[in-house]
Amino acid sequence: MTLNLKLALYIVCVTVLEVIQRSTQFLAEKHVESARLQTELLLAHLLDMPRMQLYLSFDRALTKAELDGFRQFVKRRGQREPLQHITGSASFCGLDIVVNRHVLIPRPETELLAESGWEFLNRLQTGSNPGPQLSALDVGTGSGCLAIALAVKCPAIRVDAVDISAEALDIAKQNAKRHGVAERLRFFHGDGFNALAAGTRFELIVSNPPYIPTSEIETLEPEVRDHDPRHALDGGPDGLDIFRRWAAQAAQFLNATGRMMLEFGDGQDQAVCELLEKQNWIVENVLADYTQRPRLLIARRAN
Ligand SMILES: C[S@@+](CC[C@H](N)C(=O)[O-])C[C@H]1O[C@@H](n2cnc3c(N)ncnc32)[C@H](O)[C@@H]1O
Repeated sequence: MTLNLKLALYIVCVTVLEVIQRSTQFLAEKHVESARLQTELLLAHLLDMPRMQLYLSFDRALTKAELDGFRQFVKRRGQREPLQHITGSASFCGLDIVVNRHVLIPRPETELLAESGWEFLNRLQTGSNPGPQLSALDVGTGSGCLAIALAVKCPAIRVDAVDISAEALDIAKQNAKRHGVAERLRFFHGDGFNALAAGTRFELIVSNPPYIPTSEIETLEPEVRDHDPRHALDGGPDGLDIFRRWAAQAAQFLNATGRMMLEFGDGQDQAVCELLEKQNWIVENVLADYTQRPRLLIARRAN
């Protein structure tokens, strides 16, 4: 048998299990966290099957085209490109959200903000049965994940969403269509509350603004530092620039019985509460994420 034929046979006969083992080792050497899981998620995406199905397919040989495609995926992940940029989507509150380099990849801790938001709106809705149509605002919508989750979970509400990035809004609109809520969402391009008409009022304002102190950005993992958009991360010298602005501006856009819910960074709870209280907000509740760190506050206007 010629060397080329041997090589060809070897290449065609690489199985799912072998590919998983080799790629896991490669990614671990590149310091990718949870290398085995990441490998399996990439391979399941490539083969268009649920991850668990891989376990029933360990002996399946990959075709040359599949192997070539997978090598590209693993190479990109080894260069610390986020998994979600390679697969093109991220899961948020059970929704498949399209992402690219123009939007922050939705984070699991932000699901807490979405859940708190829809629970509040659903309580209002049943209380005023049927009542006027409720509306919510998402400032800094990015991929649209929060606005869309609210619209999906509260089928009677309208949601306005603002972002300073036109490219992010293109993705958010795509996601709204994908989840069948586009007709209840409006998108505004601009700088925070300045993008809205004066006199507009909402029952709920949610925001997961950029809150990383500028000097910390260089210390972040490459997946975040080099791939999430800078305007989605950078919160100014102390990370609190946007909170100061929202604290001063948001009240005039909130109904008297409404709530504002803000995600903030680890360790910022006291500072964010203080600057809100200085602007006459009452912080009702501070909630912890799944690792028990305070990451979300619920505030109302002091009337
Ligand atoms: C941390 S990301 C959050 C994205 C999305 N809401 C989420 O939770 O995944 C912050 C978003 O705020 C947007 N943003 C930053 N400054 C803004 C401003 N001044 N006005 C409106 N949007 C802004 C960024 O473009 C980015 O999409």
